[in-house]
Amino acid sequence: MNRSSSAGIILGIALAAVASSGETPAFVPGQGSPQIDSRVDALLGQMTLEEKAGQLDQLSAGELTGPGKAVTDADNLIKRGLLGSLLNVTTASETNGYQKEVMEGSRLHIPILFGLDVIHGFRTIFPIPLGLSSSWDAELVEQTARRAAVESSSQGVRWTFSPMVDIARDARWGRITEGAGEDPFLGSMLARAYVRGYQGASLADPAAIAACAKHFVGYGAAEGGREYNTTEISVRTLRGVYLPPFKAAVDEGVATLMSAFNSLNGVPSSANPFTLTQVLKNEWGFEGFVVSDWTSIREVMLHGIADDEATAARKAILAGVDMDMQSSVYEPYLPGLVRAGSVPLARLDDAVRRVLRVKFALGLFDRPYVADPGAANPAGDPTSRALARRAAEESFVLLENSEVGGAPLLPLSPAPGRRIALIGPLADSAGDMLGSWSCEGRAGDVVTLRQALEERARRDGLVLGVARGTDISGSDEAGFPEAVKAARDADVVVLALGENRHSSGEASARANIDLPGNQERLLEQVVSTGKPVVLVLFSGRPLAISWASQHVPAILMAWFPGVEAGPALVRTLFGDCSPEGRLTVSVPRAIGQVPIYYNCLNTGRPRVDPIGLGSAKPDPYYITGYIDEKNTPLYPFGSGRGYTSFSYSPTRVGADAISARELNAGRARLAVSADIANTGAREGTETVQLYIRLRGTSVARPVRELKGFQRVKLAPGESRRVDFSLGRDELSFWNIDMKDVAEAGSLYVWVAPDCTQGTSARVSITD
Ligand code: NOJ
Repeated sequence: MNRSSSAGIILGIALAAVASSGETPAFVPGQGSPQIDSRVDALLGQMTLEEKAGQLDQLSAGELTGPGKAVTDADNLIKRGLLGSLLNVTTASETNGYQKEVMEGSRLHIPILFGLDVIHGFRTIFPIPLGLSSSWDAELVEQTARRAAVESSSQGVRWTFSPMVDIARDARWGRITEGAGEDPFLGSMLARAYVRGYQGASLADPAAIAACAKHFVGYGAAEGGREYNTTEISVRTLRGVYLPPFKAAVDEGVATLMSAFNSLNGVPSSANPFTLTQVLKNEWGFEGFVVSDWTSIREVMLHGIADDEATAARKAILAGVDMDMQSSVYEPYLPGLVRAGSVPLARLDDAVRRVLRVKFALGLFDRPYVADPGAANPAGDPTSRALARRAAEESFVLLENSEVGGAPLLPLSPAPGRRIALIGPLADSAGDMLGSWSCEGRAGDVVTLRQALEERARRDGLVLGVARGTDISGSDEAGFPEAVKAARDADVVVLALGENRHSSGEASARANIDLPGNQERLLEQVVSTGKPVVLVLFSGRPLAISWASQHVPAILMAWFPGVEAGPALVRTLFGDCSPEGRLTVSVPRAIGQVPIYYNCLNTGRPRVDPIGLGSAKPDPYYITGYIDEKNTPLYPFGSGRGYTSFSYSPTRVGADAISARELNAGRARLAVSADIANTGAREGTETVQLYIRLRGTSVARPVRELKGFQRVKLAPGESRRVDFSLGRDELSFWNIDMKDVAEAGSLYVWVAPDCTQGTSARVSITD
């Protein structure tokens, strides 16, 4: 998004007003701020080479603060003004304490910037980001990020290492849990929402925190889904799939980015001048700073492009990494490298300028301390709990809901006397509900499914039987008989299975993405009782659940829902609210299908052409596929059920033809619409999705690409026209000449409930 010139004028007026009032103006990357820049320049002019290098040093305030360094070294560095940032400090008394050391003890009194992994909440823990993305609700995501910012800033933590905007097409990769799934369009929308939520209207607001889009770039394409592994991504796929969410974050004004661990096409991402300098800083005009991921500068030695620490530091800074997280190579080596002429002073100054600019923008120089460190931590505030519950409810994806006795199994009837068996190791596992990266979240803040169901049972006179059955990763079947008996004694079974919270996240790749331990056996035994089963799945990634999909009437994907897990689930199960989530990742049938993603290329030998052109080869054998499994996922991108049903009219377009030249000039747009009707008996929210396919272009384009979505709430019988518009941004792509343009060809558009459905309309794109 290019900011309009009128916005620039308004900003100019605002800056003038702020300047005259003497306050720190907002940090607006891409537009600069003369007031901040002049303060930065004045400070830079006083700094020694050592102090400059120190500003680029970040250490963890953990037990050890980097290879060979202890806490006392950090204190020592702080007093000498040689440490720009600390991570992993979480309380106001600690942040104030460190800040006092630097503000009172160091020569130039440059405040420390405190960073932390505030990923899906600080104290109030919301659903994991993959779950949040399933809401397709950017406004909700923004609100959760805002809440996280309010809570973390109250402790002096003004910088979060979030959002993770890595595209993930492989459920083996544990960090799929931290992102928005497989789609660059949705990922871009949510990247912007996170940035808006964290940073607010102005970083100068004491309750705003700087965001950090990570991991730049391609980390999600780790070969084999293996954590920290090599990536090979063509430049076209990089620009078309992996970079767009970062670009969106930059356009939204994100203050920082994090360079990734992975090597990309042979170049470690923390020493990659193409991505960090050419694309990010030169092409996109990013004015914030880049922090390395944890020790990733040092790791370039292990990647094999540096033989010693000084070379690692030199390659990283020259490539464009501004701050060194935990490698401890910038602070000791950069002054010497500059003196030796191996690193231009201008580059060092540029990096320091970027860091100082963010510190000034945050108002840290004017307000370095948390004013009231004794103020109560806002956890438990009813509005934040209500937000956590709403977020959890919107994140659930109903994968199956077959009829049992003539009606869909869900929602459950709360008729008094109804006997419910609650079985499974995740029914009462408070800590697991927090998911990976739970920051200051506490298991004690969580209301579990069991707790919430017990309360509901008391209220409504339901008869609840509870059995654990097995452990999450257990092999012992001793608990099976009790679980089977509980099922037999019940009218309906709620079975809470899945992963533990540490099975996904960093360093948690899995070669098998099935139910851990003997949970599948427990599932089979409970199902064999013949009682209707609602399977509630807790997980940080899609699981391969083919057997369950065929034998269990109702399956609800709950992800890791956060502190309000139980109340949100109980309300959903009993129909106080409807599941509204839609998958943002394809759920594979079998591990051998991954990476699997909907926006793939057709190949020259497709099994079924998605727009009805048939297979190029009538021979069913020599076509793309497996001899032992389908090509399609078990549950496709965009899918999910609710408690009502919707119908879609055919897709309508505003014109039969549109000119590529006009599109490229930004003068043409194509209107697309459809009528959506609620054909069921309950109110419901439908996520209406707009997909395109381009044919006849200079390079092959995906079989479908998401280019719009809207959440539409409809009463029973209500119908609404939903309008979309396609322009240059939606119809351009990196063509054969590596130009991002719209080309002549055929355009197919679908307004559809998921990536597999809908009727297409065709439009010619003329020259
Ligand atoms: C490593 C992770 O990859 C990154 O996402 C995180 O922000 C840093 N550690 C800091 O904890």
